Amino acid sequence: MSKRERDYGKPYEPIETASRDEIAALQLERMKKTLRHAYENVPFYREKFDAAGVHPDDLKDLSDLSKFPFTEKDDLRQNYPFGMFAVPREQVVRVHASSGTTGRPTVVGYTRNDIETWANLMARSIWAAGGRPGDIAHNAYGYGLFTGGLGFHYGAEKLGCTVVPVSGGMTERQVQLILDFKPDLIMVTPSYLLAIADEFDRRGIDPRETSLRIGMHGAEPWTEEMRAEIEERFGIDAIDFYGLSEVIGPGVSVECIETKDGLHIWEDHFYPEIIDPDTGEVLPDGELGELVFTTLTKEAFPVIRYRTRDLTRLLPGTARTMRRMEKVRGRTDDMMIIRGVNVFPSQIEELILKDERLSPHYVLELSREGPLDRLDVHVEIKPQLESELETLAEDCAKRLQHNIKNYIGVSTIVHIRRVGEIERSMGKAKRVIDKRKL
Ligand code: DLL
Repeated sequence: MSKRERDYGKPYEPIETASRDEIAALQLERMKKTLRHAYENVPFYREKFDAAGVHPDDLKDLSDLSKFPFTEKDDLRQNYPFGMFAVPREQVVRVHASSGTTGRPTVVGYTRNDIETWANLMARSIWAAGGRPGDIAHNAYGYGLFTGGLGFHYGAEKLGCTVVPVSGGMTERQVQLILDFKPDLIMVTPSYLLAIADEFDRRGIDPRETSLRIGMHGAEPWTEEMRAEIEERFGIDAIDFYGLSEVIGPGVSVECIETKDGLHIWEDHFYPEIIDPDTGEVLPDGELGELVFTTLTKEAFPVIRYRTRDLTRLLPGTARTMRRMEKVRGRTDDMMIIRGVNVFPSQIEELILKDERLSPHYVLELSREGPLDRLDVHVEIKPQLESELETLAEDCAKRLQHNIKNYIGVSTIVHIRRVGEIERSMGKAKRVIDKRKL
């Protein structure tokens, strides 16, 4: 055991292991303040609360939150660009925005204190994931309106790392910088890390030989099978980071390196609920549903019961007393309904990676054949087997089709592709092409 591993498990701040009573008391005090702040300063919330017949004073304990209306992405779009800010615009020192596949982007804002809170939460998250002061951090999340790049940047600096702000893209340069600067940590979407791995292969360098110790991955759904693939290929610990711009960015929840058993939500700043996505009813811990967040400390952009569209369940704390969320299975928006069967890309990813001959590069193409849905799965063969593609393709395709039919219940057509035929992402991977919508 290295010196570093021996202090894995130690929290960055005492609150992470406070008693549940202490956490609940803090949440209640902060929730009351946030509801009042939103009601008094954002016309949208005032109108919405009034219409629902609720007032911030109606919150006597945490469960009263369920009386308050939800906030949705569309509400943010309606108030584009700055209509949801709860402080005068002059106090907003930064904005970020998420592009969104359709319509207007959603814009979020931060006061100086918000930036400080966020940096601190990211420092706490990087620490929980095993990063330590003095580590060199290669940050390949995109810098710009996306919250990934700057979120990790500020957090790593705050923790005391040496940050290499590479941003996404220029894969050859990513590899060169990893070889030259010898980073301990890499911060990058799981799908882009795989593109970086391919570049190592192309140069005939084994990624296991690099200095990298820990990968900090998020911004898109990824399965346990994908984690195993990354850990094996790079010889690192791959840790899950979750967050969304509307709530703060990355730094909402993270796995602890010593347990890797789901993501601890920083409950002193964000109050989670799980709801039934169809009825809006709050579900008990342990049940699968849509994750909803209320921010507890944000000044410029408080959100009340924000519907994330991410599907997961809440679990009790382990390495920290703060509750965990299970790895996100997918977004309600990404759910494909194929001939009446609900399918998430992550379910197919799991089955692809069960076949050692197949690579994690895949894309799912939905189309219509007459009145029926059709799903084509395109997946690349592993590079070391490319020369045998012709002999292997039929068996690989048959086996995957059979497994998808057996485990998920839908018929698919599988195409085994050559290396490089599936487009590589430089940030969030696009897994589904829905031609039915064209
Ligand atoms: O993706 C923030 C982030 C950056 C998180 C870097 C982690 C690392 P948005 O662009 O607003 O923010 O996208 C948020 O991405 O609602 C999820 O659907 C998805 N997502 C984020 N992290 C994970 C994860 C950033 N670890 C949306 N697992 C969220 C699964 C994730 N999905």
